[in-house]
Amino acid sequence: MKIVEAGGAAIPSIGLGTWTLKGSDCTDMVAAAIGAGYRHIDTARMYGNEREVGEGIRRSGIDRDALFVTTKIWWTDIAARNLLNSAQAAIDAIGIGTVDLLLIHWPNQRVPLEESVEALNEAKARGLTRHIGVANFTGAMLDEAVAISAAPIVCNQVEYHPFLSQETVLDACRRHAAGLVAYSPLGRGGEILSHPAVRAAAEHHGRSPAQIVLRWEIEQDGVVAIPRTSKPERLAENLGVFDFQLDDEERQAITALTQRRERLVNPDFAPHWDRA
Ligand SMILES: NC(=O)c1ccc[n+]([C@@H]2O[C@H](COP(=O)([O-])OP(=O)(O)OC[C@H]3O[C@@H](n4cnc5c(N)ncnc54)[C@H](OP(=O)(O)O)[C@@H]3O)[C@@H](O)[C@H]2O)c1
Repeated sequence: MKIVEAGGAAIPSIGLGTWTLKGSDCTDMVAAAIGAGYRHIDTARMYGNEREVGEGIRRSGIDRDALFVTTKIWWTDIAARNLLNSAQAAIDAIGIGTVDLLLIHWPNQRVPLEESVEALNEAKARGLTRHIGVANFTGAMLDEAVAISAAPIVCNQVEYHPFLSQETVLDACRRHAAGLVAYSPLGRGGEILSHPAVRAAAEHHGRSPAQIVLRWEIEQDGVVAIPRTSKPERLAENLGVFDFQLDDEERQAITALTQRRERLVNPDFAPHWDRA
């Protein structure tokens, strides 16, 4: 497994996304993922599954320190006291003690960034999390967060896949030695997986389209991907991307698709996104 080192954190470059996984299905998938070799699990307060994620971790029997667990504070709760209460509730729900990474899930224009970033630092100081980071921040917002924060901002978790260039955010992450954690890395299983450029590489390497797309992501410096699946048989497939390499032409053909700039996740509370 490739590890992305960022701000003192060692982030496994493939993680399991758990959005929409609920109840015993969630517990089963988390335990199965760890059994299949996953060492990075992504959850959030808003997913309503932290308890089940924690159960799956405990059921797997894995040594706590071998696992990297991320959770996120919903954007309506990022004022100082709310953030700290919400972080404590997350830790109680997951039930494995300190989490590895605590993120602001979305920025909130009505809360000064300074207040939220200082609260994240306080959560770290209180031992609720080992590392702190942000999600859905523009490049300029990341610059601002890094300037405010005493502790390193170890990542910006954003939508990233072959149909969406994130050049500005990638540049900002690299400028600050932060990781870019790619969410919706499979484009939610849509058209990306049947695009001719992806299919051609899949045929050439004898791999699935999902493996080609994930490989394209994790080959990039500082990029981590957190694909979600509800199908146990796809767990090994989505993790099996460390034993082949894309050719230059394949890489370039897939990178060219990013100019489509197709965003799948754009709620009305989203920030004013970077153009590229
Ligand atoms: N920070 C944020 O604001 C934010 C926003 C969105 C997502 N996220 C995180 O990112 C994770 C992943 O993003 P996502 O859930 O939006 O989308 P995704 O991982 O790009 O796609 C998930 C979809 O792809 C399908 N899929 C999975 N593996 C496949 C494979 N090998 N071949 C074909 N199809 C496959 C899944 O179907 P099956 O279930 O049928 O396999 C599911 O419908 C989330 O679970 C969440 O943890 C964060």
